Amino acid sequence: MKELVIAGNWKMNKTRREAVALTLALREARPDLPAAVRLRVFPPFTGLAAVAETAGGEIEVGAQNLHPERAGAFTGEISARMLLEAGAEYVLIGHSERRVLFAEMGSFLAAKMRAALAAGLRPLVCIGERLDDRESERTRAVLTQQLEEVLAPVQPEDGPRLEIAYEPVWAIGTGRVATLAQIADAHSYIRERLVARFGPPGRSVPVLYGGSVDATNAKEILGLDGVDGVLVGGASLEATSFLAIARYAG
Ligand code: PGA
Repeated sequence: MKELVIAGNWKMNKTRREAVALTLALREARPDLPAAVRLRVFPPFTGLAAVAETAGGEIEVGAQNLHPERAGAFTGEISARMLLEAGAEYVLIGHSERRVLFAEMGSFLAAKMRAALAAGLRPLVCIGERLDDRESERTRAVLTQQLEEVLAPVQPEDGPRLEIAYEPVWAIGTGRVATLAQIADAHSYIRERLVARFGPPGRSVPVLYGGSVDATNAKEILGLDGVDGVLVGGASLEATSFLAIARYAG
């Protein structure tokens, strides 16, 4: 059975105490989930260390962001080494909220990739088109460009350490999920690009879908051939709704 990543991006939600409580609930439910599920959470920085400790290796833990530099005068930022020490194994790079709200793009994201990989973190790279891109049939062009930018610094041997999340911007937090045909098409295109970039190892890079995933649509989405998991925002904030999604990964 293929492994499926069920990842929760908590965004700017959950105090440390709340984050630990949610992690505990997930950990307790872990033994009842299908064996093929890789449960993962991305808590805010303040909860990271406590969540990693509570997860006890049974739930994967990632950070929502990092700064490309190792250290220095970057008020408010956090480095790859700090994240690793706090217990993060994964890191989100290029989430649309970072791209849109914080104007992150191109070479800055590439620098983050370089820093994450050099430090030994595993990047989960988020890409996706805006509504106007889709309406003007520029989806593939946007995906190609975003992939090229962020993969520019990646050495061939690092290909297998990556993951990609296809997250159409218009589907994030809107309740408007992409159709199965749109998801299948984008995923097979991303796969094609990954194989073109990394050769055969590009076939095993997990490609997740994200954007308004919940218990009502997860089963069909996870059932698609090209989907290796989901990145969940809103529905990951409660154990019940997140676990309902994970149970479909059987
Ligand atoms: P959503 O968020 O599930 O609330 O749409 C997904 C994401 O931002 O990764």
